[in-house]
Amino acid sequence: GGSETPPSQCVGPEYRPATQKPTATVSKPLDQVPNIHILPQTPQLIALLTMIRDKNTGRADFIFYSNRIIRLLVEEGLNHLPVVGHEITTPVGRTYAGVKFEGKICGVSIMRAGESMEQGLRDCCRSVRIGKILIQRDEETSKPKLFYDKLPEDIADRWVLLLDPMLATGGSALMAVEVLKSRGVPEEHILFLNLIASPEGAKRFAEQVPKVRVVTAFVDQGLDEKNYIVPGLGDFGDRFYTL
Ligand code: URA
Repeated sequence: GGSETPPSQCVGPEYRPATQKPTATVSKPLDQVPNIHILPQTPQLIALLTMIRDKNTGRADFIFYSNRIIRLLVEEGLNHLPVVGHEITTPVGRTYAGVKFEGKICGVSIMRAGESMEQGLRDCCRSVRIGKILIQRDEETSKPKLFYDKLPEDIADRWVLLLDPMLATGGSALMAVEVLKSRGVPEEHILFLNLIASPEGAKRFAEQVPKVRVVTAFVDQGLDEKNYIVPGLGDFGDRFYTL
């Protein structure tokens, strides 16, 4: 991938005519892939992504702006959890017909980069349980290999928010889903939160685990020969943790 013209859009507030808005590259739509939910390509989101994609953005800003996108992903992800009706009484004695979340959730981060998304989840879901999965490419076979996992005992009874910022080939995410399924989590109870996906990774993932819902901020152009997402942002874990 990566050779066709990327989709572009006029970006700016609605009161501005199109001629007064700059053109920016927006997410590929991926209409043919069900269960992929791409965040609305708002001026805010595009500005935040511009900050974290810039190679001249230092670590402090990278963390700050990534965290803002992660927060948007978590907030949108929560919209995919079921609710039940919940009527309450307000301080002025009137009733309000509302809803509340039904069921228990937990987070599962794919180490190391996925751990960057844990705080955003905690900020929205106080004291949420968070499990971890470590998957690394096996040097000999070049296939992803499970090195470590630690998951809540009762994970089969929870909705799982799977966390990984970059969906490149989809190999690690697919293996993580298989681990969750082996612990009794139904595919349809898994929600994958992702910052940037490659079109090929997103398609492969959706084909192999069609009931897992994906919430992503952006579907990029493609992959390069080293399986980096392009234009991408480089190595997310390095930029967030060590660069
Ligand atoms: N992981 C990253 O951190 N970056 C990529 O581009 C692909 C996978």
